[in-house]
Amino acid sequence: MATATKAPAKKATSKAATNADAEQSNPAVSVQPILNQQQGAPAPLQRFGTVTQRLPIGLEENVRQESVDMLNLLLADTCSLRDMYKKHHWQVVGPTFYQLHLLYDKHYEEQDALIDQIAERIQILGGIAVAMAADIAESTSIPRPPRDREEAPVQVSRLLEAHQIILKNCHDFAKRADESGDDGTNDLIVSNVMRTNEMQVWFISEHVVDSPLAQAE
Ligand SMILES: [Fe+2]
Repeated sequence: MATATKAPAKKATSKAATNADAEQSNPAVSVQPILNQQQGAPAPLQRFGTVTQRLPIGLEENVRQESVDMLNLLLADTCSLRDMYKKHHWQVVGPTFYQLHLLYDKHYEEQDALIDQIAERIQILGGIAVAMAADIAESTSIPRPPRDREEAPVQVSRLLEAHQIILKNCHDFAKRADESGDDGTNDLIVSNVMRTNEMQVWFISEHVVDSPLAQAE
């Protein structure tokens, strides 16, 4: 690492002379960024799928590994659901456009917040959070929606299916985290992921109830 050195005491007569003096006194100093360091990079700091014991949080490696594997699936599914909300936010049409357009974006933001909480829990446990879209597409269990625009009730049905997949996993994973003694992961799944998903299920489910708009039947 280059170290800064003091400029020479001698007084320069012009700016050009000052720069030349500085270069002469410390030729190692450069403002050029060192680019393309990803090419021929050394081995990664940590391989995906492994856990380390870096942080002293009182959990054994096998417990961390189990929690990281569960959380990475929950993370991939939550990324898929978040992105489905944004797709539907853009593509929705019909008489409920305004409320669904706004509601979808609210749920998108809430899922986005969950993603950060899940990913950071994975890092705290010594794992590596899945991050890039291509990797998420390979690991998610949420069925892929078409690129086409769909009717609002179809959008809602797809979202409810995704929520249910996540919620079923939440019940299973929360129980396993509780049994292994990973209370932090259990709390994250129950208090944040599960509660948020249940609330969102309520808000969108009510849009596919076939109830009269103006006259009671
Ligand atoms: Fe928007």
